[in-house]
Amino acid sequence: MNPLHDRSVRLPDSTLPLLLHGYAWLPDLLRAEGRPLVRTRLMGRPAVALHGPDAVPFFYDEDNIVRRAAVPGPVLDTLFGRGAVHTLDGEAHRVRKAMFTALLKDAGGVAALTDTVVEQWRAAAAAHRGEQVVLFEQASRVLARSVCAWAGLPLAEAHARRMAADCVAMVDGFATPGPRHLRARRARTRQERSLAALVAAVRRGDRQAAAGSALAAVAEHRGTDGQPLDERTAAVELLNVIRPTIAIAWFAVFAAHALHRQPGLSTALRDDDSGAHRVRFAHEVRRFYPFAPFVGGRAARDTSWHGEPVEAGCTVLLDVYGQHHDPALWGDPYAFRPDRFAGQQPPVGLILAQGGGDAARGHRCPGEDITVSVLAALSGELARCRLDVPAQDLSIPLSRIPTLPRSGFTARIALPSD
Ligand code: HEM
Repeated sequence: MNPLHDRSVRLPDSTLPLLLHGYAWLPDLLRAEGRPLVRTRLMGRPAVALHGPDAVPFFYDEDNIVRRAAVPGPVLDTLFGRGAVHTLDGEAHRVRKAMFTALLKDAGGVAALTDTVVEQWRAAAAAHRGEQVVLFEQASRVLARSVCAWAGLPLAEAHARRMAADCVAMVDGFATPGPRHLRARRARTRQERSLAALVAAVRRGDRQAAAGSALAAVAEHRGTDGQPLDERTAAVELLNVIRPTIAIAWFAVFAAHALHRQPGLSTALRDDDSGAHRVRFAHEVRRFYPFAPFVGGRAARDTSWHGEPVEAGCTVLLDVYGQHHDPALWGDPYAFRPDRFAGQQPPVGLILAQGGGDAARGHRCPGEDITVSVLAALSGELARCRLDVPAQDLSIPLSRIPTLPRSGFTARIALPSD
């Protein structure tokens, strides 16, 4: 009998290998196992990791996988926030999620945010014309100014910079112990406190929140009990709009990295009147470059997948990074080729950069339309400008979660008119 099938065998804990090997940990484990399911332990708890498009419907079926008590405390205290929508199940999840989908899947709202990002990017590029800048830092500030204005809390420049740095810290420090993690915790505490005070001011009538804005939505939202969210949870959910929008800066740098490696791709982005090529490019950035290594939940009951037992309460992971580079699913997976999406939307269940399944009913990211639209637009802007990229370390360490070119991508920006 395969000892991995024998649930009495105590499996080795993978927490340290995950911390050491980052994005490579799960794909390596799956390759060594030679089948789409591996058993291990994470933070002392039994864990099952699944790979492949047919694991997606199983993983996103709430009868199989739930999110309550699935997210480790250190991740809640940095990335998502306590009480976040990510941790809810059933009716409580559906009611809270409806607030996000109404805000984030509205085509007019997505277009308005994208236009603001382009306007802010052009202003920043003009202001820094000819200077050497760290692209990651500039992109995070452009996104912070844009999303805060869009969400109903326009910020003065110093506050926008603080918001950008804090949201970057929350993402950068969630998956690691040490100073990065402490920075992330401090950043979350600071922003939750300040946004909770803002929500309180809106509710007292001391501050206006534009109708239909994210600020108004979290201040007015009522849960399954008919009660408003407490101020701290409202702040957590407002940050769950602001923080991941700023995180598009990671993808913007990856887009610049791809254009630097293959300058020939710029022409198609620049001459793209319909915008279709930019969207393909955005999909390929989300597929090719590492961001979420996997998504996770907890088995709701004793169940099975492909005849393999999955025990109630165990951690269940769905492979993301490995699936995006599986040669059985993608031709030439380590080549960056936006044209693989020519004439088609990404096939269902193949791109999992922002989760899978149904965004309204399940935990799939409600910000996918915004991400694709903003990333496509920023990729077009990067192709329009000329980026002079001095010698630097552009390697992308897979051992670091989240990762980025080591230099943060330093470049001198030249405007199209230069
Ligand atoms: C959930 C990735 C952008 C809001 C998620 C999930 C992933 C993800 C992997 C979890 C899916 C799951 O658990 O099955 C990303 C990436 C982004 C991004 C890589 C781009 C950098 C956004 C944006 C917003 C957003 C722009 C909002 C404006 C959310 C929310 C959830 C979520 C609220 C929780 C959904 C739920 O639990 O029902 N995202 N996201 N994300 N994302 Fe995003």
